[in-house]
Amino acid sequence: MSKQFDVVVIGGGPGGYIAAIRAAQLGFNTACIDEWKNAKNGPAPGGTCTNVGCIPSKALLQSSEHYEHAGHAFAEHGIEVKGLGLNLGQMLARKDGVVKQNNEGILYLFKKNKVTFFHGRGSFVKGDASAYEIKVSGAAEETISAKHIIVATGSNARALPGAPFDEKLILSNAGALAIDAVPAKLGVIGAGVIGLEMGSVWRRLGSDVSVLEALPTFLGAVDEQIAKEAGKLFTKQGLKVSLGVNIGAITTGKNDVTVEYVDAAGATQKAVYDKLIVSIGRTPNTIGLNAEGVGLQLDERGFIAVDGDCKTNLPNVWAVGDVVRGPMLAHKAEEEGVAVAERIAGQHGHVNFNTIPWVIYTSPEIAWVGKTEQQLKADGVAYKAGTFPFLANGRARALGDTSGMVKFLADAKTDEILGVHIVGPMASELISEAVVAMEFRASAEDIARICHAHPSLSEATKEAALAVDKRSLNF
Ligand code: FAD
Ligand code: NAI
Repeated sequence: MSKQFDVVVIGGGPGGYIAAIRAAQLGFNTACIDEWKNAKNGPAPGGTCTNVGCIPSKALLQSSEHYEHAGHAFAEHGIEVKGLGLNLGQMLARKDGVVKQNNEGILYLFKKNKVTFFHGRGSFVKGDASAYEIKVSGAAEETISAKHIIVATGSNARALPGAPFDEKLILSNAGALAIDAVPAKLGVIGAGVIGLEMGSVWRRLGSDVSVLEALPTFLGAVDEQIAKEAGKLFTKQGLKVSLGVNIGAITTGKNDVTVEYVDAAGATQKAVYDKLIVSIGRTPNTIGLNAEGVGLQLDERGFIAVDGDCKTNLPNVWAVGDVVRGPMLAHKAEEEGVAVAERIAGQHGHVNFNTIPWVIYTSPEIAWVGKTEQQLKADGVAYKAGTFPFLANGRARALGDTSGMVKFLADAKTDEILGVHIVGPMASELISEAVVAMEFRASAEDIARICHAHPSLSEATKEAALAVDKRSLNF
C-alpha cells in the first residue's frame, strides 16, 4: 500500500516548496519531492533559485561589489586600503555557505510545517481525478499517492545548437557561478538578466567582459529611457556590449573558446575567450516526469499547459513557476504556489500579473513594475510621465551613488499609476512601494502626498510622482 497524501508537490524550488508549506498550513497532509543534490549527494531543496540562481548570484554580486568599492570607491570617503587582494576561493566558499543556509532553512520549514520531504525524482505512474500515483526514485524507491498534484519542476538553461554546456569553457548559469580563477577574457552570449548580472560580477573581479546580443536594442523589455541610461552606465563601467550580432560557430580549444559571429555592420568577427557564458534564456523542465504517460498536456514550447488558475488538462493536477507560461521569476512561482494551495482548499487564490516586479541586480540596479512608455504608446493609452534623477537626492549624494532616476507613468485622465521604472541605487527595495501603490490602484498624486522619510532614496520616488504633475520640489 503506497503512502497516501492529500497533496504531493513535485519540485522543491520557490514554486514547489512554498506551495507545499501553504498546503500544509491549510491542513492538508502534504509531501514535497525534490531531486536536487548537494556536493555530498544530500538533499538541497530550493531549486534553481537557491542552488544556482537568485541566491548565489546575489551573494557574488554583493561580494564583488564590496571588492570594487574597496578598490575604487573607498578613497573618496577618505578610507585608504593598502594591499587589497582577492581571495576568490573564500568568496565562492561564502557563496556556497549562503546556499547551504537556505537549503537547510527549507528543510527546517518542511519539518516545522509537517511537510513530508522525499529526496528523489518524482514521476507520474497513473491516476485519475480521485488519486494519482507518483513514483519517487532516489536512494530508495517508493510509490506515493495523492488526490492533488502540484508540478513545479522549473527550468533549465538553454544551450546554443552545437555548443553544449561543458561547465569548463562553455558555462550555463551553474558554471558562471563557480569559475575558480578570474578569466582574463570572458565572453557572454545574451545581454539579458543573467548576462548582465554575471557579466557585472566577473568584470568587477577583473575580467575583460564582452557581451554579444542578438537583438538590435539593449534590454528591449525595459522602458527605453531607463534602458538607455543603464546602457550608458554599464559601458562607462567597462562592460562591452555588442548588439545585433549573429552568432556562428563556437569551438573549444584546450583552454579557450572561439566564437565566430557577424556584427551589426555585417562584418564577420572571431573572438577568443578564456570562458564563455551562454545566457540566452531558459527552457521548461519536464524531464523524467512521465507527463506523456498520464496525458499531461504541454504547449508547443514545452511548457505545461495551464489556464489562468494554474490548472492543467488533468483534473486535480496543477502546475506553477518556470514550467508554465509567464515570467521566469522566483516571486511569480511563489505567488502561483500559494494561490494553487488556496484554490485546492476552496479559497480564491489570486495572482496579479500586472503587478509582478522585475529587478536586475546590477549596479545601479534596474527595477520596474507595470507598463513601459513604449507599451503605452503601442496600446494607444494617453499617459503623463514624471522623472526624478538620483543626482538631486540628498541620500544618494551621501551614499556616493547618484546614478539613475525614478520614472512614473500615470494615466493622463485618471492619474492612476500605470508603470514605475527605476535605474539607481537600491531600486530592488524602492520598487516595492510602487507595487503596493499599483495593487491598490493608487494615483501618482497619492504617492506625491505621502510623507517619505528624509533623507532617503524613497524621496526620489515621491519626487518622480510629483514630476508627473510638473511640480518636483528638489529639481
Ligand atoms: P526551480 O527553482 O527550477 O525548481 C524546480 C525544482 O524541481 C528543482 O529543484 C529541480 O531539481 C526539481 N525537479 C525537477 N523535476 C523534478 C522531478 N521530476 N522530481 C523531483 N524534483 C524535480 N528570479 C528572481 O525572481 N530573482 C532573481 O534574482 C533571480 N535570479 C536568478 C539568477 C539566475 C542565475 C537564474 C538561473 C535564475 C534566476 N531567477 C531569479 C529565476 C528563478 O531562479 C526561477 O524563476 C525560479 O527558481 C523558478 O522556481 P520554480 O520553483 O518554478 O523552479
Ligand atoms: P533573458 O531572456 O533575460 O535574456 C536572454 C538574452 O539573450 C536576450 O536578450 C536575447 O535576445 C538574447 N539571445 C537569445 N538568443 C540569442 C542568440 N542566439 N545570440 C545572442 N543573443 C541571444 O535570459 P537569461 O539571461 O538567460 O535569464 C533567464 C531568465 O532567468 C530570465 O529571463 C529571468 O526570468 C530569470 N532571471 C531573473 C533574474 C532576476 O530576476 N534578477 C536574474 C537572472 C535570471
